Amino acid sequence: MAAICGRIHRDSLSAVTVSRVSVHQEPGRAAVNPDAFKAALGRWASGITVVTAQGPDGPVGLTASAFSSLSLHPPLVLVCIGQASSHHDHLVGAPGFGVHILGAAQEDLSNTFAFNRSDRFDGLEVEEGPLGIPLLPGTLARLACEHHAVTDGGDHSILVGRVIGATVADGDPLAWWQGGYRRLDLT
Ligand SMILES: Cc1cc2nc3c(=O)[nH]c(=O)nc-3n(C[C@H](O)[C@H](O)[C@H](O)COP(=O)(O)O)c2cc1C
Repeated sequence: MAAICGRIHRDSLSAVTVSRVSVHQEPGRAAVNPDAFKAALGRWASGITVVTAQGPDGPVGLTASAFSSLSLHPPLVLVCIGQASSHHDHLVGAPGFGVHILGAAQEDLSNTFAFNRSDRFDGLEVEEGPLGIPLLPGTLARLACEHHAVTDGGDHSILVGRVIGATVADGDPLAWWQGGYRRLDLT
């Protein structure tokens, strides 16, 4: 059986056309085929963040695109952290964590916090924020969060943070779509 994803093009307020893209789903299965799952989720465009915390042996951090705003009253955000990550327990165990929204020119920073095995903070002028949260310079926005809840999310943990501080800068965001970095045309 083929699962059908509709791609909607809104050409004008009155004209909406749908072109169809097929992805495969195995028959008789309760769970979606992993390729279909990845193909569908790859079509969700996101920004990119670096999530940091103070670990027992110094600052820790990783690149995460699974980030969302959650609530205004109280001000909550969420980020999903892989349970297999060597940073997972430090991010969950610290009193708070920082979320840095990356700008269009920060692919290198994203790669450092996704792939570097050695000191990811090497050469960065890290500021100490509230709750000892390590804050990185030069990102589009920075949120300092205290832990509000941690929930199981399959092979990830969902960290819900109550935002206790935020700073912003001007610039375009770095985006992630279909497994690659993208620049958004925001005009
Ligand atoms: C663009 C991009 C987005 C990512 N998003 C997430 C994410 O949302 N959650 C997560 O746990 N890992 C995510 N990762 C992977 C982690 O950054 C990576 O597994 C981690 O930094 C590897 O370090 P570790 O092996 O010590 O955990 C992402 C990686 C990239 C390149």
